[in-house]
Amino acid sequence: MNRTQKLLVAFLSFVVLFTGVIISRVWIFKPQSTVQLVRLPAGEYDPEIWGKSYPLEYSSYKKNLEMAPSPTGYDGNLKVQKAEMQPELYTNFKGNPFSEDYTEDRGHPYAMEDLRESKRIGPAAKGACITCKTPYLEQAYQEMGWGYASKPLTELMDKAKHSVSCANCHDPETMGLRVINPAFTEAMQKRGIDVTKASREEMRSYVCAQCHAEYYFEPGTFKVIFPWEKGLTPQQMYEYYSTKPNGFVRDFIHPDSQVPVLKAQHPDYEEWQNGVHGQFGVSCADCHMPYMRKSGQKYTSHWITSPMKTINESCTPCHTQGKELLYGQVKAFQDNVWQLQHTAGQTIARAHGAIQKAGAGTNPNQTELTNARELLRRAQWYWDYVASANSMGFHNPVQELNTLGQAIDLAHQAIDAANKAAGTNTL
Ligand code: HEC
Ligand code: HEC
Ligand code: HEC
Ligand code: HEC
Repeated sequence: MNRTQKLLVAFLSFVVLFTGVIISRVWIFKPQSTVQLVRLPAGEYDPEIWGKSYPLEYSSYKKNLEMAPSPTGYDGNLKVQKAEMQPELYTNFKGNPFSEDYTEDRGHPYAMEDLRESKRIGPAAKGACITCKTPYLEQAYQEMGWGYASKPLTELMDKAKHSVSCANCHDPETMGLRVINPAFTEAMQKRGIDVTKASREEMRSYVCAQCHAEYYFEPGTFKVIFPWEKGLTPQQMYEYYSTKPNGFVRDFIHPDSQVPVLKAQHPDYEEWQNGVHGQFGVSCADCHMPYMRKSGQKYTSHWITSPMKTINESCTPCHTQGKELLYGQVKAFQDNVWQLQHTAGQTIARAHGAIQKAGAGTNPNQTELTNARELLRRAQWYWDYVASANSMGFHNPVQELNTLGQAIDLAHQAIDAANKAAGTNTL
């Protein structure tokens, strides 16, 4: 070979190698994040049908059926009574069905089954309860508007065949993310936010926020309302409830202390929103629906569970600290929150007893008794905001520790006021 031929061979080898590398990068190894869009008919609620077109997402969705304790010892998805770990729930929810049946949450495919089996649901239960359990909500609202909320629950449960699934979060024709709960859209509108104009990033949390939020039923109509007009912190929501919005006064009256109690319901969106991840724009999906790879294909995991089961996929794309440090930090936040949550719950239970005792005595001071009941009502709301939220405070440890500190102080003030009412205050 002469010099020119040698150069030509070298050049050709280089071209072949280079093209090979490019081809393998582009066609073989490059993760494909775009899936082939298949249009499904509007009103298709069966995840199995969706799964035929989107097998990777569907097979990860099916993992939501698995049940296991969480690696942190908190949360988890075994169907256990929360009162096993916190016996104070029996006292604090006395007179309310939450004292009889209050289980740890499980995966989305169990939502309808758990609703059916709940001992909190009696024959008088209303259609409003399906709001966060099934994609059939879309059809019910289309046909009846908010009228579905006051129908007997049994009537709607017969029609709602599927538990939380694809159509709750996706438009079947475009696969774009969507919100179907009108309570969320209305509450956001009142805060000046148009959900239909939300960015993709915002939708990655809004799809969850439509269900993982605090709510109450409007007296008479059972319409679902999110109490967000004054803001999303425990204090702001308490101020909102104090205005007796739409005639709503309380969830139940405690039979011992006569306190008109507000029962909090999983304010996960609210807690996260004010926390460091919420404020820095890290969405629910970033941690709970991380990207996965299978045979070179990149897809969004639909196994929506504790991110501590997938630290590598959920956290390390942003944090370089390593699995052990991250786990340790989460666990430390949770242990701290749990300790104060337990103390707050127990102090509140004692306050119910102190007020009962004062009220049953001779000639208690009525002004002090009223004062004690108001202090305890606020204490219990603060404690329950944290206790009913998921993640044992991880979503916002700073706010939650502060809230629990205030709950403990308020409960002690309630005990003092009760003792004053009874004339036994030793302070
Ligand atoms: C709780 C809400 C939720 C449910 C339920 C849900 N998805 Fe998704 N899905 C998402 C989110 C969030 C993304 C990420 C979208 C983005 O970032 O643009 C996504 C992405 C997708 C994508 C785009 C490709 C990908 O993997 O990123 C497909 C396809 C998909 N989902 C199919 C399904 C199917 C099929 C079901 C039912 C078995 C389902 N989804 C149920 C929230 C949900
Ligand atoms: C249509 C209402 C709805 C939507 C939308 C929804 N959830 Fe849920 N979620 C529920 C209900 C109800 C449960 C409890 C089910 C049970 O206990 O039977 C639940 C349970 C969970 C659990 C507990 C699972 C476990 O393994 O312990 C997690 C985590 C969760 N949801 C996160 C999310 C995230 C993140 C999103 C958004 C990507 C989301 N959810 C969207 C209603 C919803
Ligand atoms: C999309 C990026 C992103 C993901 C995913 C993410 N984080 Fe973060 N995290 C942040 C940002 C941003 C902060 C704010 C401080 C900073 O800049 O480091 C933060 C802060 C933290 C802190 C300090 C909190 C505090 O109160 O000071 C902890 C602990 C943490 N993250 C743990 C986790 C864990 C555990 C996961 C997975 C379950 C996770 N993060 C997933 C971006 C992320
Ligand atoms: C920075 C990561 C991160 C973000 C963002 C995040 N979470 Fe979590 N979430 C966690 C961690 C960590 C836990 C605790 C899991 C454990 O104890 O095993 C958790 C727990 C939960 C649980 C209870 C899980 C169980 O096993 O019972 C629910 C429900 C939940 N988150 C919903 C949400 C929702 C809704 C959003 C958005 C509004 C959100 N999370 C945002 C990391 C995150």
